[in-house]
Amino acid sequence: MHLINILLSTLWVASTSLASHIARSSAHLSQHAQRTVDPNSKVTPKVVIITMFPPESDSWLLETNKTGGIGSLFGLNVTVPGFSPIFPHAHCLADGSVCLITTGEGEINAASTMTALLFSPLFDLRKTYFLIAGIAGVNPHHGTLSDVAFAKFAVQVSLQYEFDAREVPGHWSTGYVPLGSNHPDQYPGASYGTEVFELSGGLRDWAWGIAKNVSLNDSSTSAVYRANYQTGPQTSMVAAKYRQAIRKPSIIKGDVVTSDVYFSGTLLGESVENTTKLFTNGSAVYTMTAQEDNATLETILRAHLAKLADFRRVILMRSAADFDRPYPGISCLENLFNSTQGAFQPSLRNLYLAGSPVVQGILKDWKRFELGIEPGNYVGDIWGSLGGRPEFGPGVKGSDNPVQMRRGLDGGEGERDLEGVSGWLNPVGKGKVGAMRARRAVWGV
Ligand SMILES: *[C@@H]1O[C@H](CO)[C@@H](O)[C@H](O)[C@H]1NC(C)=O
Ligand SMILES: *[C@@H]1O[C@H](CO)[C@@H](O)[C@H](O)[C@H]1NC(C)=O
Ligand SMILES: *[C@@H]1O[C@H](CO)[C@@H](O)[C@H](O)[C@H]1NC(C)=O
Ligand SMILES: *[C@@H]1O[C@H](CO)[C@@H](O)[C@H](O)[C@H]1NC(C)=O
Ligand SMILES: *[C@@H]1O[C@H](CO)[C@@H](O)[C@H](O)[C@H]1NC(C)=O
Ligand SMILES: *[C@@H]1O[C@H](CO)[C@@H](O)[C@H](O)[C@H]1NC(C)=O
Ligand SMILES: *[C@@H]1O[C@H](CO)[C@@H](O)[C@H](O)[C@H]1NC(C)=O
Ligand SMILES: *[C@@H]1O[C@H](CO)[C@@H](O)[C@H](O)[C@H]1NC(C)=O
Repeated sequence: MHLINILLSTLWVASTSLASHIARSSAHLSQHAQRTVDPNSKVTPKVVIITMFPPESDSWLLETNKTGGIGSLFGLNVTVPGFSPIFPHAHCLADGSVCLITTGEGEINAASTMTALLFSPLFDLRKTYFLIAGIAGVNPHHGTLSDVAFAKFAVQVSLQYEFDAREVPGHWSTGYVPLGSNHPDQYPGASYGTEVFELSGGLRDWAWGIAKNVSLNDSSTSAVYRANYQTGPQTSMVAAKYRQAIRKPSIIKGDVVTSDVYFSGTLLGESVENTTKLFTNGSAVYTMTAQEDNATLETILRAHLAKLADFRRVILMRSAADFDRPYPGISCLENLFNSTQGAFQPSLRNLYLAGSPVVQGILKDWKRFELGIEPGNYVGDIWGSLGGRPEFGPGVKGSDNPVQMRRGLDGGEGERDLEGVSGWLNPVGKGKVGAMRARRAVWGV
């Protein structure tokens, strides 16, 4: 989730009679056992829609049973052990072909709920498509309010050291420094493995193509707010810099960053742009920011390794609820706390408007989707855990696959001192020298 103010969402839910009806009936339902699924007849969804909090789930639950929709997602409620205590069920079509879950917000909730789902004996998810559908903050260099972006890359920009802004050396552009390095511009000397995920480009392009003609929702408040990004002291320069910010919302391609810290402001936004570029060796462009996706992706990757899911079947879709930085002339405080950007409800609505043709397209053409879509690109994490060679990450000499090097699986070159690995994996206090020494031990560089 990435929205202006949590209170807003609470008010929104409370003021929506249907939503509060659902909240009440969920509370009521949780007192009763939901359907116990016979392990021999697992729920086998073609699509699982992943939302993070109630306004996002309601944007589907309240719409799918209307004319032209896929039907009621209250046809089958499955209680999944390990789900969030406040979102205990997967809500599915009666035949189980489409399910919707709510993970809870932030990386910890996302990882825990996804792990519970993916490793649950109640489901067979080996052929399932995962549609991550949430709202986000948007970088005005690359998008605008209520845009819907389909991403190829997810980058966890918060895996860094941080200094308080008041204590940052004067000549530095930011207080964030990649782990295992000692300067903001330096490539990370340490990796947790979750820094970068690359998703199927073939699937992303198909989803973008099928959604791109839908007419998106918008508000007059947003139209007024966007126009601010073309005014200010340096009109022509600013207009060029923010020309994506001042247009009407559309369906775009753009990458998503993950950070538990809800950042806001021009310098932090620019520093996240730089980090995204650095971590992906120039492949990804920071367009949307949210708080869960890398965590969700890491769990799907682990389930893939356990042969329980297919990481090539993930679609990452984020719609823009607010700008990540102020327009020229106002402070970052005003942008975050005091501005009325008018995109909260339209961005929620647009998740359904853009996501619905994607879900319906997969159902309609299941014969093709059951076999899978050719990605056409490297798919996986920064370590190459699923095989293949990422175009980002530290790279390795003498092997196509960094994770095999890490595990010492490829013999010879790969047989590394595991003491070196654990030293390298713990970047705290290591500084550049320690990190370089450890990198040499692990990567041979
Ligand atoms: C599923 O849960 C919803 C509310 O959360 C409820 O209205 C519906 O009746 C339940 N469906 C079934 C099949 O029990
Ligand atoms: C879904 O719509 C059908 C009719 O189109 C109706 O019979 C059914 O009660 C609806 N289900 C829910 C849960 O609203
Ligand atoms: C999320 O993915 C991005 C890019 O793929 C990566 O830089 C980041 O470390 C990941 N974060 C987590 C928590 O997995
Ligand atoms: C989108 O619109 C274009 C131009 O009108 C058309 O050629 C294309 O077939 C449409 N695509 C879809 C998926 O409807
Ligand atoms: C956006 O959705 C709201 C609520 O459904 C509706 O009142 C409004 O007319 C829609 N606006 C556009 C531009 O689609
Ligand atoms: C981002 O990188 C550019 C180019 O290296 C640099 O000029 C700028 O100061 C950086 N911005 C921040 C906020 O770190
Ligand atoms: C934001 O609004 C509050 C009142 O709601 C006001 O006290 C505060 O000064 C405003 N801050 C800015 C930066 O405009
Ligand atoms: C990514 O960039 C870093 C720093 O420049 C470099 O060491 C590394 O080899 C690059 N990775 C790949 C896969 O090219």
